[in-house]
Amino acid sequence: MKKSSKRNAAERILKKIEKSVTAFHVCANLREELLQNGFTELREAESWDLRKPGGYFVMRNGSSLIAFFLSGKNAAGYRVFACHSDSPSLRLKEAPEIGQEGYIRLNVEKYGGLLCAPWFDRPLSVAGRVVIEEEGKLSSRLVNIERDLLLIPSLAIHMNREANEGYKYSAQKDMLPVFGDAEDKGKLSAIIAEALGVKNGEILGDDLFLYVRQAPSFWGAREQYISSPRLDDQECVWCGLEGLLASKNDAFTRVLTVFDNEEVGSSTKQGAAGTFFADVLDRIEEAQGRSAEQRQIAIANSIMISADNAHAVHPAHVDKADLVNRPHMNGGIVLKFSANQKYTTDGVSAGVVRKICRDHRIPLQVFVNHSDVAGGSTLGNISGTQVSMITADIGLAQLAMHSPYETAGTDDVEHMIRFSKAFFESKEII
Ligand code: CO
Repeated sequence: MKKSSKRNAAERILKKIEKSVTAFHVCANLREELLQNGFTELREAESWDLRKPGGYFVMRNGSSLIAFFLSGKNAAGYRVFACHSDSPSLRLKEAPEIGQEGYIRLNVEKYGGLLCAPWFDRPLSVAGRVVIEEEGKLSSRLVNIERDLLLIPSLAIHMNREANEGYKYSAQKDMLPVFGDAEDKGKLSAIIAEALGVKNGEILGDDLFLYVRQAPSFWGAREQYISSPRLDDQECVWCGLEGLLASKNDAFTRVLTVFDNEEVGSSTKQGAAGTFFADVLDRIEEAQGRSAEQRQIAIANSIMISADNAHAVHPAHVDKADLVNRPHMNGGIVLKFSANQKYTTDGVSAGVVRKICRDHRIPLQVFVNHSDVAGGSTLGNISGTQVSMITADIGLAQLAMHSPYETAGTDDVEHMIRFSKAFFESKEII
């Protein structure tokens, strides 16, 4: 049987998510794909030559990336598709090996608002960025120990008969994975050094995270569901990239922004609350020889789509959803509203999204929190405090958000690719 284009799209995106185990790996893999597609890499610490029309990209901290496509004509403004590279995880602390009762466990702390339970009883490993000295200079290298290395064992029910009555997880006590026994003291840094091909002791700094080893899967009666680590927000990242690469638009500069640290509030140099996006826009505008006023006009003509996954209605917890606005997996793009502006969508930006979906026959549904549920937030409103433009919040419907193994709809991947392409090609000025 020939595979549908929707199935193919989901397989493509899941392959990319599987190998992008940390925000650093997301950006490294984006970089590789952008280079393959003829984009030019820029560095923040160097002068930029943007005279040639075409694609460019720049990274900050190795964990955030902004790609843009200059048409070569005097662009009226920007079409910005914004998403995030990070996912909730457990981060290794300094000197992480802790010996106790003949075991060695690794000391970790929570990164972001993770669901703790699903981290137990499944193989885990370690990945991230390390800093070493090479030829007298500090350099960053990525590392991923690509084998089942760690596991956080549950306590047997015989030792906690109330385990199924609800459990309060202590990050410091419960979440430390087992790495080995007394013989393995000092082996973690040796394993990491060996994976990098450097001497043990040459690592001067690191940002290392745990990740779940389980591979993505298609499941359900018609395999209409996908499950994978890091669907939030890499589904939007990789769909946005496909949309950017497939799009054409001479009237607007198309921009894909992928920010780190959304899961911890975005207030970092590489987060949406930092200056990264504004700094890149300044340099694009300056390269085009535009005045400060012309920059303001361009931003006023611009639209941002903040793309971050949304909650599908849960079959066992329908009471947590709004009375009417309940997204379903495979139901298409989710447009998100919030009266307190956790989501940026308003009547104007809703109109932009609805028109794109209507014109391109992309299914659209709406998410609003149950009025008694606080709900989450994302990066659209935060980015807006740095560069303010008309913004809508969208996402794809998923279950188990912030589990290390999340679930979404197979067909929705293609919906998001088509949406992002149509958005990048849109030419309206509001
Ligand atoms: Co998210």
